[in-house]
Amino acid sequence: MTPGMSDLFDFDLRKDRYAVMGNPIAHSKSPRIHTLFAQQTGQSLEYTAILVDHGGFSQAVGNFDASGGKGLNITVPFKEEAWRLVTQRSERAELAGAVNTIKFDGKTMYGDNTDGVGLVNDLTHNHQIELRGKRILVMGAGGAARGVIAPLLHQQPAALVIANRTVDKALVLASLFKRLGKIEGVGYEHLAGQQFEVIINATAASLQGEVPPLPDDVLAKNAVCYDMMYGARPTSFMQWAKAHAAAQVYDGLGMLVEQAAEAFFIWRGVRPQSRSIITSLREELITPATK
Ligand code: ATR
Repeated sequence: MTPGMSDLFDFDLRKDRYAVMGNPIAHSKSPRIHTLFAQQTGQSLEYTAILVDHGGFSQAVGNFDASGGKGLNITVPFKEEAWRLVTQRSERAELAGAVNTIKFDGKTMYGDNTDGVGLVNDLTHNHQIELRGKRILVMGAGGAARGVIAPLLHQQPAALVIANRTVDKALVLASLFKRLGKIEGVGYEHLAGQQFEVIINATAASLQGEVPPLPDDVLAKNAVCYDMMYGARPTSFMQWAKAHAAAQVYDGLGMLVEQAAEAFFIWRGVRPQSRSIITSLREELITPATK
């Protein structure tokens, strides 16, 4: 039997191809999410995960483009490199200083950043939280924090405070975004006596099972606490929030799905219904499939 062309490659040539690139990448949920989106919307596409060597990112993107790939998601640690590599950027990617979504059209390499809108959509649509007029605290001043500041300011909060262990980084971020709204960069000790209605953890502290040094009385009445990390069990910040009587406590699984939904829309012009996908992923997270 003669093999068909598509048997010679590890992908299906008839389908539009997408992928997520990162390092590490094995545990990425993006292939699962986009496959569910494609099924739900009746779109024919293939989405894979590509492990990229440190130092091999631009080559990997170039190869993917040259082989006819239609779009990429970019994750840790390549988002800033992707920002430098693309030939065009959306305004929100420009401000975020990072690109998590690339669209190829044969000529341009268009870079966008859907992380911030993913967070805002999860908070406002899925959890029905009004951000306008609220006092918001973002913990952390790395890439994760930077990616969400402009979309948060766009919601017109009463105040947006960025707290970071290394205060200088919080000050830099605040000055970078000050033309977009009321924003202040501080160290954690500066939070004494202040209360916030929405507290977002954009630090990597939960990865180490740690919680940033928050004052015990930092939560306003009916406060919402949101960790951009997620896992099968509540993160250390979520446990802290529950112990401090936060009214609502969420992890970042919804943000992950919402940033993917926005990328899917950029590529396909169709917006998936994310709620049922979030529910499926939550079930899979809590009860991993036995092989
Ligand atoms: P990312 O791109 O995920 O934001 P990053 O740029 O390395 O990653 O930033 C990590 C953020 O988590 C930083 O704000 C870091 O604080 P410093 O700038 O002071 O290092 C913060 N962070 C990491 N571990 C932390 C911890 N245990 N407590 C408080 N903040 C922590």
